[in-house]
Amino acid sequence: MVGGMTMHLETRAIHVTAPSLGPSRPLGVPIYQSSTFAFTDPAACADALNDPDSGFGYSRYRNPTTRALEEAIADLESGQAAIATSSGMGAINAVLLSLLRSGDHVIAQNCLYGGTFAVFRQLAERFGIEVSYISGRDPAELWAALRPTSRLLFLESIANPTVAVSDQPALLAQAHSAGMTTVVDNTFATPLLCRPIEHGADIVVHSATKYLGGHDDVTLGLVVFAESGLYRDLWKRTVDLGVAPDPFASWLTIRGMKTLPLRIARHCANAEFLAGRLAAHPAVARVLWPGLPGHPDHAIARRVLTGFGGMLSFDLAGGREAGLEFVKRVRLAALAPSLGATETLILHPASTSHRQMDAAGLRAAGIGEGTIRVSAGLEHRDDIWADFEQALSGS
Ligand SMILES: Cc1ncc(COP(=O)(O)O)c(C=O)c1O
Repeated sequence: MVGGMTMHLETRAIHVTAPSLGPSRPLGVPIYQSSTFAFTDPAACADALNDPDSGFGYSRYRNPTTRALEEAIADLESGQAAIATSSGMGAINAVLLSLLRSGDHVIAQNCLYGGTFAVFRQLAERFGIEVSYISGRDPAELWAALRPTSRLLFLESIANPTVAVSDQPALLAQAHSAGMTTVVDNTFATPLLCRPIEHGADIVVHSATKYLGGHDDVTLGLVVFAESGLYRDLWKRTVDLGVAPDPFASWLTIRGMKTLPLRIARHCANAEFLAGRLAAHPAVARVLWPGLPGHPDHAIARRVLTGFGGMLSFDLAGGREAGLEFVKRVRLAALAPSLGATETLILHPASTSHRQMDAAGLRAAGIGEGTIRVSAGLEHRDDIWADFEQALSGS
């Protein structure tokens, strides 16, 4: 029977309905693996396509599993709403393409994820959107960079890969007083260590591929909004860009986020341990971890972060050759172009994540030829150090 009518086998095989669960509810958020939702009321169908806070009609617009994730991240980030995207770059592009017009000027931190730099370069070349770079340390730099066309400030809460920490409260307040929209990539810190909206950001972006998912099994991005007005403006443009995630990716991210506080505590503890050991090793010229008193942004980090993070970098005294040798010699840690996972991951930024930058750009961003970036995993700290020690013996 379908709708009270008797139907043929071919029709009944297609018209399967989900059971009503009666007095129980699923503890895990169900995966609504449906691109399309059916209505009895045409007005409700139109509403679902026009209003981000209305029903579910088509999963490029909204999906219930993805919605659960969006509400969860908005809550953790102290935002009013969020939009999930198919990747972190999807989130960054959705924000930049939705907010910027030809001729606009952007002020950005000079130490960013390489992919973000690449987008800024393309925006400059193709749309005449110019970008000025600042260190993120000194609010006076922002005043000096300001132009009448300055429209957007882009920062990373902990920047890739020198783990620079920007002075968010000062910079965000100044940018607002100049009428700019402020965007902070909070991928490295996660809302456990920093909530940029509480420091004044309008928009927070994430590569949830990293700590939020946490297990190297999902690619997803998130955009979180301080105010629902900006969310409603950007929702339709994001829908039109077509960067919605698959519901299964949203589900994996929800599952990962359940253990985020436990994982972040261990990532931070392991990073602190490795930073201390590396700093005492003769082959290591410099260690960068915001929790070390010698880190250039240690004082800012104490004000802006509630923990110093699971990411660190170190420079080998032997330069590029020593860096490449180290990444070849590790056995437990994996040489991999990502971070924030259960496994310890290492990278040689000059030849991988920041390969798009020339020597001057690398220098300006504080990235050395022999810099190694480490994403401290959740393994036993002594096992990670034993691996690093044997790999350093060849440096
Ligand atoms: C800080 C930061 N933002 C954004 C991205 C891009 O994220 P995704 O790879 O999910 O597109 C990355 C990727 O490494 C990143 O490190």
